[in-house]
Amino acid sequence: MTAEQQVPNVDEGKPAGGWSEFFEAVKPLVSAATKIVHEERLGTKTTMRVGGAARIYAEPASVADLQVLLREARAWGGAVLMLGRGSNVIVPDEGVNGLVVSLAHQAWSSFEPREDGRVAVGAGLRLKNLCGLAAKAGLVGFEFLEGIPGNIGGALRMNAGAMGAWMFDVVEDVQLMTRAGEVRTLTQAAMHVGYRHCEELHQGIALGALLRPATRSDAETVKRQMDAYSRKRHESQPREPSAGCIFKNPPGNSAGRLIDESGLKGARVGDAEVSPTHANFIVNRGSATAADVIALVRRVRARVREVKGVDLEPEVLLYGKEWKDVL
Ligand code: EPU
Repeated sequence: MTAEQQVPNVDEGKPAGGWSEFFEAVKPLVSAATKIVHEERLGTKTTMRVGGAARIYAEPASVADLQVLLREARAWGGAVLMLGRGSNVIVPDEGVNGLVVSLAHQAWSSFEPREDGRVAVGAGLRLKNLCGLAAKAGLVGFEFLEGIPGNIGGALRMNAGAMGAWMFDVVEDVQLMTRAGEVRTLTQAAMHVGYRHCEELHQGIALGALLRPATRSDAETVKRQMDAYSRKRHESQPREPSAGCIFKNPPGNSAGRLIDESGLKGARVGDAEVSPTHANFIVNRGSATAADVIALVRRVRARVREVKGVDLEPEVLLYGKEWKDVL
C-alpha cells in the first residue's frame, strides 16, 4: 500500500472508531466558545426546513478551532461538510454522516471598510447585513445581493447571482482554509468560477473576502436601488419555505419558464409543491419531507424532458449526497 492510500478518505463519512468516540475526543480540544453537538437536527437550519440530523455539528469560534476540527476529522477519516445559511441545500431525511461546520459564530461576521471603499468581510456575514452596512457606508455594487437568504461563504461557494450580477463580480480576493487546515489568500483571477460554481471552494472553506464596490454614492441612493430589487423579488418569488431556485437555468433558457410551460405549477408530492408563483421553486407547504422534495424533483425533470426535451440539472445541493444517486 502506498503512503497516499493510507491517508484516510474523508469522503467515506464515518470516522474510524465511530461518531460518539470522535465527539468525546474532539470536544476537549476546542475552546469553550466553540459549539459542538452530537446529533443536531439540521432542518431548522435550512430555508427548506426538511431533513434529519448531522452526526456532529460545530460552530467554531476561531481559526484555531476550525483547524482543530478539520485536522481531527482528517485524522479520524470523518467527512466534513460546510453549512452556510442553508438556503441552497436539501438535507436528506436520514441526515448527514459527517461533521457539519457552520461559521455562525459572530467571530466570522466582520465588516471592515477601508479608506478606499473596499471592504473586508467574514464568511459568516449575512448578505442582508452586508447590504445594510454597505448602504449606510454609501458603497454601490452589492445591491443585487439584497434578499438572497445566504451568507458570504455560501455566496462565494455558489457564486450566487441575481438581477444580472454575480458574487464574483465584486470579489477581489478570498481567504480560505484548505482541508489540511492551512490558510491561504487567492486573488479572484486565480480562482475558477462559473455559473453557481467556484472550484476552489469545493474543498477549500471560505473564511472571508475582500470586496470591491463599483463606486460610491449616498446611503439614500443605494437604499433606493435595494428596495427596487426587493420589490421585484417579492413580486416574482414565493414567500413559503424553499431552497431558492431548484434547477440551474439551461444555457440561453429559463428553467422556470420550461417547468411552467410543462404545466407543472401547483404539482405536489406530499407537502412539497411546485410554486404557483415561480415554477423553479419547490416550496414546503408545512410538513414536507426530503423524500417528498426529491420525488417532486424527479417528477419535474421527467415531465420537462418529455414535454420540452430538456434535461434540467439541480442547482440546490443534496446535502452529503449526489443527485445522480437519487434521480
Ligand atoms: N418564468 C415563467 N414562469 C415561471 C417563472 C419564470 O414563465 O413560473 C419566466 C419569466 O417570466 C421570465 C423568465 O422565466 O421571462 C426568467 O424568470 P426570472 O426573471 O424569475 O428569473 P430566473 O431565471 O427564473 C434567476 C435566478 C434566481 C434569481 C433571479 C432574479 C437561476 C436558476 N435563477 O431566476 O436565482 O433570483 O434570476 O435575478 O439562475 C437562485 O439561484 O436560487 C435564484 C432564485
